[in-house]
Amino acid sequence: MTLSEIKALDAAHFLGVFGERNPVCFVRGEGCTLTDQDGRTYTDLFAGIAVNALGYGHPAVTQALIAQAQAGVLHTSNLYYVEPQAKLAALLCAHTFADRAFFGNSGAEANEGAIKLARKYFYAQGSGRYKIVSAHHSFHGRTLATVAATGHAHYQAPYLPLLPHGVTQVPYNDLDALAAAVDGETAAVLLEPIQGEGGVVPAEPEYLRGVRRLCDETGALLILDEVQTGVCRTGSFYCYEQYGVTPDIMTSAKGLGCGFPIGAVLATEKVASAIAPGDHGSTFGGNTLACAVSLAAVTELLSGDYAARAARLGERFKAQLSAIDSPFIAQVRGMGLLLGVQLTDALPAATLSRALLARGFVAGTASGNVLRLAPPLVITEAELDAFTDALRAELASRA
Ligand SMILES: Cc1ncc(COP(=O)(O)O)c(C=O)c1O
Repeated sequence: MTLSEIKALDAAHFLGVFGERNPVCFVRGEGCTLTDQDGRTYTDLFAGIAVNALGYGHPAVTQALIAQAQAGVLHTSNLYYVEPQAKLAALLCAHTFADRAFFGNSGAEANEGAIKLARKYFYAQGSGRYKIVSAHHSFHGRTLATVAATGHAHYQAPYLPLLPHGVTQVPYNDLDALAAAVDGETAAVLLEPIQGEGGVVPAEPEYLRGVRRLCDETGALLILDEVQTGVCRTGSFYCYEQYGVTPDIMTSAKGLGCGFPIGAVLATEKVASAIAPGDHGSTFGGNTLACAVSLAAVTELLSGDYAARAARLGERFKAQLSAIDSPFIAQVRGMGLLLGVQLTDALPAATLSRALLARGFVAGTASGNVLRLAPPLVITEAELDAFTDALRAELASRA
């Protein structure tokens, strides 16, 4: 099909939630290179919104997919034991603070599970604590509970009154505001260590440590949403490690399946022990195929020390982006290979991202007029340098 034919079919029949998309349809991928249906190639700096940590066509991912498909068992349901699910849970627990894991199909589902787990923890104690406090400009997903926790009026407005009751937002990186919002009915504080969709805004170390202290003092649980920051992207397996702050519950998705949909809720035994059979579940969540692919992907990411690679490449990349002398750049921020280029109002991030696409580079945006860069962690220095040169040239052409 031509791109025009695909666009016409999409316009006629797909629900209009994504509006006008970038005028490209990718059909092949290898490493960090994507090819569109006209044979044009692009270097990918966005990884399908921070998902494809191992890039495209990585043998570990491809072989796991093929082997599981050839075994003929993609799914059996959670009524039976699932070997890759048990192994993936054990692997994630071995490399994080967590004692137990549960798998769903997306980041939003993971956050739903986390909120339910926090509420169940207090319910099991006969406590009425149920409220969730999250942050302005946060993003936690598109289900009703995660929209309620997502601190953007734009996403919430069509779905008022919000469900569930008792989910509120306070300014990010403002410990006093959080302390004022947490009360004896608060079940959990839900935060991203780096706000991704909100503009690649890292938590200040003092803030996150203060949040942990506040939770300890008030008895509220700390849920960290590492859907975007997790799985080696920011320079450690999960970002919380770099803050020296341990959550009670953490969510993961995106890079966890390196392109195959999977999400995880991870929790300490203290919290997880509140869960009884029937409290939560999923038909597809944690199925054989998803867990087999994720197990292979995470094993590869850990054994290849991609966290250290993200830290090293990210530091170099950030320095090079920061050295671009342009009136359009206000700031470069982020950690590892999750970086945001804060643009001035004179240049909309969407315009810049389109211009970079025309130059053969895929880059994303985030709210607050930010160019968001979250490349596959297999990206090379040469590919990052080529992108930096293209960005510099594009900005210079507009100055
Ligand atoms: C921090 C964070 N949490 C949750 C989500 C929702 O994940 P999903 O789109 O897989 O439901 C996202 C998606 O961008 C995210 O960045």
